[in-house]
Amino acid sequence: MSKVIELIQAELGNSAVLLGDDVTARATSYWDSSPNQALAIIRPETTEQVSAVLKICHQHKQSVVFAGGLTGLVEGAVATNNDIMMSLEKMNQIETVDELDNTVVVQAGAILQQVQEDLAEKGYLFPVDLGARGSCTIGGNIATNAGGVNVLRYGMMRNQVLGLEAVLADGTIISSMNQMLKNNTGYDLKQLFIGSEGTLGVVTRAVLRLYPMPTNQQTVLFAVSSFEAVTKMMQVLRSELAGTLSAYEVMWNNYYRDVTAEGFHRAPLDRDYPYYVLAEAEGVDEASDAERFECMLSAALEEGTILDAVIAKSEADRQALWVVREEFDPVLPAYHYDISMPKRYMDGYVNKLKQQLSAWRDETVAYVFGHVADGNLHVFVTPFHNDIYHDEVDEIVYGCMEGLSGAVSAEHGIGKQKISWLASSRTENEINLMRQLKTMMDPENILNPGAVLEA
Ligand code: LAC
Ligand code: ZN
Repeated sequence: MSKVIELIQAELGNSAVLLGDDVTARATSYWDSSPNQALAIIRPETTEQVSAVLKICHQHKQSVVFAGGLTGLVEGAVATNNDIMMSLEKMNQIETVDELDNTVVVQAGAILQQVQEDLAEKGYLFPVDLGARGSCTIGGNIATNAGGVNVLRYGMMRNQVLGLEAVLADGTIISSMNQMLKNNTGYDLKQLFIGSEGTLGVVTRAVLRLYPMPTNQQTVLFAVSSFEAVTKMMQVLRSELAGTLSAYEVMWNNYYRDVTAEGFHRAPLDRDYPYYVLAEAEGVDEASDAERFECMLSAALEEGTILDAVIAKSEADRQALWVVREEFDPVLPAYHYDISMPKRYMDGYVNKLKQQLSAWRDETVAYVFGHVADGNLHVFVTPFHNDIYHDEVDEIVYGCMEGLSGAVSAEHGIGKQKISWLASSRTENEINLMRQLKTMMDPENILNPGAVLEA
């Protein structure tokens, strides 16, 4: 056993360190079920223990990869057999809720859904929400600046974080647990840790914003014949619902068709429409909110902007609509992409992409869906042949984005998978500054090495 692991055992106790079968019994990630390769999985219980571990790792130049729920799409938390993995799964408590300031102090290992549910019982909404809610952690959400389905109304994880506590590569604890909406005292250091994917430090606790729980949700799945109608309806709903539109998710026909094929999800609407939109609004008065929502949709049906629609009448109905958008297992395995671009380019981009993919190999299928209101598309490309075609598919998916001022990652980060594409979305000077920050904050390059920036 390595000296580093012995030192960590001596500091935290043997039970904090998983070895051998306890490591390999865990998967590499949600996407890769092969046994986890890490040298050991360390499970600290306090920020001080995290600090002690990193101090040892820093002294011995031992690399550390951080595990949240391991559902990320960019191999940002994949450990090699040279890495120690650190999981904050034992630091999973909600510490305090401040009813006057509408804030919660939560530990980084808390599961998102648990946090949402505990706060809902107290009458609060924690608005960041995504398909992986049952396994992803608050710390992982912060480290990757998670997005999800409510960004339109509430913003990404970054917008929810008022303060945080993080541990630097050398074990220094940066406690920046601000609780106020306003605090302009110098540099906003928390931003260094939000979205930097565990490369500049590890977040152990955070102060997050809370919102009043809406009393009802209006949810509809509707079909339209053109992308123009998709964006037209988005504008109508955004303005007529006075900012309460919380989700506007779009599915291109072949995605909808294949996830509702025989044996998969039940199709709430016919399967032949060109585009499907899942829209949701939040409200405070069930009867009048429902009436307004239905009126708007009837008007759109009458004037022909939408072709068909189904409104959820119960929570079960609502789940049956969301499952079509969120559970995409029927179209897996695939090469998956998470891109963003100004909405005016989206339709042209998707058409060009589909054309180029089929010109490349005619059995290729691009499933497109995602958070269109946020300018964010997910593209799943099949058939999947592991690494054989990965680079070629990358070239086509990202190549078609040239000149569109888009981003090769909208909400999942760069991880290890997209490193070579970072420069297509960021300038040389930006990347140089990122590198300087990394070198200054992690001079031995032990924190999630090889993620975000080339080692
Ligand atoms: C989603 C994941 C892929 O939106 O980000 O379902
Ligand atoms: Zn997404």
